[in-house]
Amino acid sequence: MFTHIDLLPDDPIFGLNLLFSQDPCPEKVNLGIGAYRDGCGKPVVLSSVRKAEYILWEQQLNKEYPPIEGDSDFVQVTLELIFGTDHPLLKQNRVAAIQSVGGTGALRIGAEFFREMSLSGFVFLPTPTWPNHLPIFKSAGLQVAFYPYYSDRAHAFDFAQMCEALTTMPARSLIVLHGCCHNPTGIDPTFEEWKILSHLIKERQLIPFFDFAYQGFGSDIEQDAQAIRFFANQGHEMLVASSYSKNFGLYGERVGTLVVITPDDLTRVKVKGHLKHRVRSSYSMPPLHGARIVSTILHSPSLRQEWVQELEKMRKRIADVRKSFVEGLLKASCQIDFSFMNRQLGMFSFSGLNEKQVLTLREKYGIYTPLNGRINVAGLNSSNLDYVVQAVNQIVKI
Ligand SMILES: Cc1ncc(COP(=O)(O)O)c(C=O)c1O
Repeated sequence: MFTHIDLLPDDPIFGLNLLFSQDPCPEKVNLGIGAYRDGCGKPVVLSSVRKAEYILWEQQLNKEYPPIEGDSDFVQVTLELIFGTDHPLLKQNRVAAIQSVGGTGALRIGAEFFREMSLSGFVFLPTPTWPNHLPIFKSAGLQVAFYPYYSDRAHAFDFAQMCEALTTMPARSLIVLHGCCHNPTGIDPTFEEWKILSHLIKERQLIPFFDFAYQGFGSDIEQDAQAIRFFANQGHEMLVASSYSKNFGLYGERVGTLVVITPDDLTRVKVKGHLKHRVRSSYSMPPLHGARIVSTILHSPSLRQEWVQELEKMRKRIADVRKSFVEGLLKASCQIDFSFMNRQLGMFSFSGLNEKQVLTLREKYGIYTPLNGRINVAGLNSSNLDYVVQAVNQIVKI
């Protein structure tokens, strides 16, 4: 019955992990997967997370089914983190929000909800974008189209091209925007550009869907949220998919939130009902543990402060290692000036390396990055930095 089916290619990022694990090269370096690593190249569990887990263990909570929409304390504290505690929106009964299975789950439920609404049926993604956006929105039954976001030549956000593309999008289409730390480029619009984009998006009657997977990895928790808060202030009906995978290091616990901003309370109630219906018919309800960890930390002033400091430490290490990488190539008199990387924010650097160079790095040096040349800067550390710098310096000559 099943023998006729196609063999699908591996996921571009997780497939790379498999190749890496099979590579016998002793100096191999994994700069592919989007997960933070410490200065020794090891995965990190935050101390605030460990402490919250201890508190939860002491509370001996039961493991009953949570509500379909997840833990309401968790959702409330997430809304405060995204929008700020004093945001007028939070007092207006216009926000339908549910706990989701990571940021991916929020994107998928949001996409399915949008399809159900029978609006334009189109979703517009930036070029380039996180590779999983395409299958998520396609599997949800939407027509996927793209808008230009980045100029390879200028290594910069292509504001003019994006503005032009907005004028051709059918009204009532979904437009995916990265809230901060655009993946893979690390380049965000300036606040002034966000303001203009907000105006144009409203004028065109488009529905913004913010993918917010890196709050706190760019500048800080507040500044990283400024585009989303501004759009919310401007009265957009919009969606936000927020993730705690990166900023709490809770990758495998699958913690996120889907937010839909509606025009009034009655619409909020109806939207929430639809979101719950989508959840119930796919995975019934979200998992308990990760949301309890986040909620415990964000409700405790001391744990929250510790988390903010740990997040800052991760952010700073990434910024430092990015700077060292650029300096290393400059010192090695590399024929390409990589100083544009210093303008990039978040976990990734879009190196501009082409497919041939990426494959040479992989085959000759055991250095793994996706084919688009995106480097997980957090994968660099004092033990492998020189090796990677020398290898990049060599391969740009080919
Ligand atoms: C831009 C972007 N959106 C969403 C996600 C998904 O996050 P999660 O692991 O919480 O599903 C990622 C993860 O890499 C991401 O980079």
